[in-house]
Amino acid sequence: MGAPRTIAVSGATSGIGRALAAVFAAPGRQVVLLGRNPDRLAAAVAEVRARGAEPFPVPCDVTDPGALRDAAAAILGGPGTPGLLVLAHGVLPAGPALPLDVNALRAALETNLVGVARLVDALAPAMAGAGGGRILLVASMAALHPFRGIAPYAVSKAALDGYSRALAADLRGTGVGVSVAYPSIVETPMVESLRREAGEELPPVYRVFPAHPVDRVARKIARAALRGRTRIFVTWPDAVFDLLLRLFPRTAARWVETYVARRAR
Ligand SMILES: NC(=O)c1ccc[n+]([C@@H]2O[C@H](COP(=O)([O-])OP(=O)(O)OC[C@H]3O[C@@H](n4cnc5c(N)ncnc54)[C@H](OP(=O)(O)O)[C@@H]3O)[C@@H](O)[C@H]2O)c1
Repeated sequence: MGAPRTIAVSGATSGIGRALAAVFAAPGRQVVLLGRNPDRLAAAVAEVRARGAEPFPVPCDVTDPGALRDAAAAILGGPGTPGLLVLAHGVLPAGPALPLDVNALRAALETNLVGVARLVDALAPAMAGAGGGRILLVASMAALHPFRGIAPYAVSKAALDGYSRALAADLRGTGVGVSVAYPSIVETPMVESLRREAGEELPPVYRVFPAHPVDRVARKIARAALRGRTRIFVTWPDAVFDLLLRLFPRTAARWVETYVARRAR
């Protein structure tokens, strides 16, 4: 698939979503930018315009069903049906599984799963009706292995991963494909604020593995999605870990936990 003319990106005001919007911004394209923060939305608009694309900002909180319906109506009545819908919004509530902060889990699920599903519900039928397209969900390696100290987040991303498979099954035959990206750690405001807020309590995985530059991650994800890849890994060790987890789930999980615990000391 070549890049379609109209691309919608949620989470376009920051981090991976903003970098993906910039990668897709090129002359002749319309880039719909969804986000909450007005200043960051204005900055994303300027960035997309500077790259020669036509920006279409849509302020919206994905946890507000009415706002999402309005956002979808504004998109379909404005730039029109997107050929590519990118779901890159998200929150990262950290904490253990025992005891589990159920409010943190609810917040993670509301944004990272329900907010995604509502936006897909609002736009996927039009995409199918227009002959097809692609939906790109930004999950996380934490969806595949729940690294310690980020239980609410990891559970929400595992749920998103499960949702992606149910969605792909329901969209089969409609011409709309589903891609899921599984980044590991990316240098973005999300990770910066986790480092700042957690201090000494920073979950071990963030002390052990390096954070990848966001622009490089976005380019890799965008290229793979446009090629129609259904599962997207940013680095080869991530892809190898995924394979090991599927072949030897217990051994691979134990090995990575031991490795992280030793290196984090
Ligand atoms: N950074 C990593 O290491 C990493 C690794 C794997 C996966 N991911 C995933 O990648 C995605 C982007 O993360 P990031 O690191 O780029 O984070 P980020 O820099 O904090 O950006 C998060 C984005 O999500 C938006 N957002 C959050 N809650 C929202 C809500 N209720 N309604 C609308 N928009 C909302 C934010 O909008 P506002 O700016 O308007 O608040 C912002 O644009 C997330 O799904 C994250 O889980 C990140």
